[in-house]
Amino acid sequence: MRYCIAANWKMHLYPAEAEALFLALRDAWQEAPLSNLPGIIFPPVLYLQRLSDLRQGSPLQIGAQNGYPGEFGAYTGEVSMAQLAAVGTQWVLVGHSERRQYFGEGEAFLREKILSAQQRGLSVLYCVGETQAQRSAGQTFSVLTSQLEGVLRDTPIAWSRFALAYEPVWAIGTGLNATATQAQEAHAFLRAQLRTYGAPADTIPILYGGSLKPENAAELFAQPEVDGGLVGGASLKTESFLAIAKALLQKLPVS
Ligand code: 13P
Repeated sequence: MRYCIAANWKMHLYPAEAEALFLALRDAWQEAPLSNLPGIIFPPVLYLQRLSDLRQGSPLQIGAQNGYPGEFGAYTGEVSMAQLAAVGTQWVLVGHSERRQYFGEGEAFLREKILSAQQRGLSVLYCVGETQAQRSAGQTFSVLTSQLEGVLRDTPIAWSRFALAYEPVWAIGTGLNATATQAQEAHAFLRAQLRTYGAPADTIPILYGGSLKPENAAELFAQPEVDGGLVGGASLKTESFLAIAKALLQKLPVS
């Protein structure tokens, strides 16, 4: 799998809204060409079981926005990777900038999460990205390098269950997306870095995230190194998420 569209619902939607949105997407994914496009929905953890039941037979996959390493333990409030897998979750987000920023998660812990998730059979979407201050200081590539190095060095990764998201922090929820050139440059850099860890980089999705919307998706997806998107705000409405997903269809081989 190289191309993929993903929805990060973050801490949004009441149960009935989540179910209605998921059902609308499930219907849309029922038919070609969308049914040929890998799609992943990351709802609040509370809804995973229900969406897992509803997705039976659908090509849409579901993922958790977070997970704790291990199976069981005295970690009040946490949900383990093993528990996520047990309710039918297929993916987990690791390293989202909101977790790094608000919950103080650093690379050593993120590495543990990745290992634990993969041991339980989950696929990992690992997020990286620089802040505005880091970009202004010319540190974008060194930040991306260390965010990868901290989790990949000497780590036995199952590459067939690993994907990356480039999400510049300054673009998340700001309405200010990276330009196509900035995204292409960062993605090319990340793919080259993945090769240095022995990854089959040409088969690994590198998704762009940060103020993706129907108006900018086609231009970003036209970049050869941009393999899809991780959509926040615009994934909360059926029409806008579908419009973004459809913009990615241009990358699929014509069957
Ligand atoms: P927005 O699309 O709302 O900018 O969020 C991006 C994001 O953080 C997805 O994980």
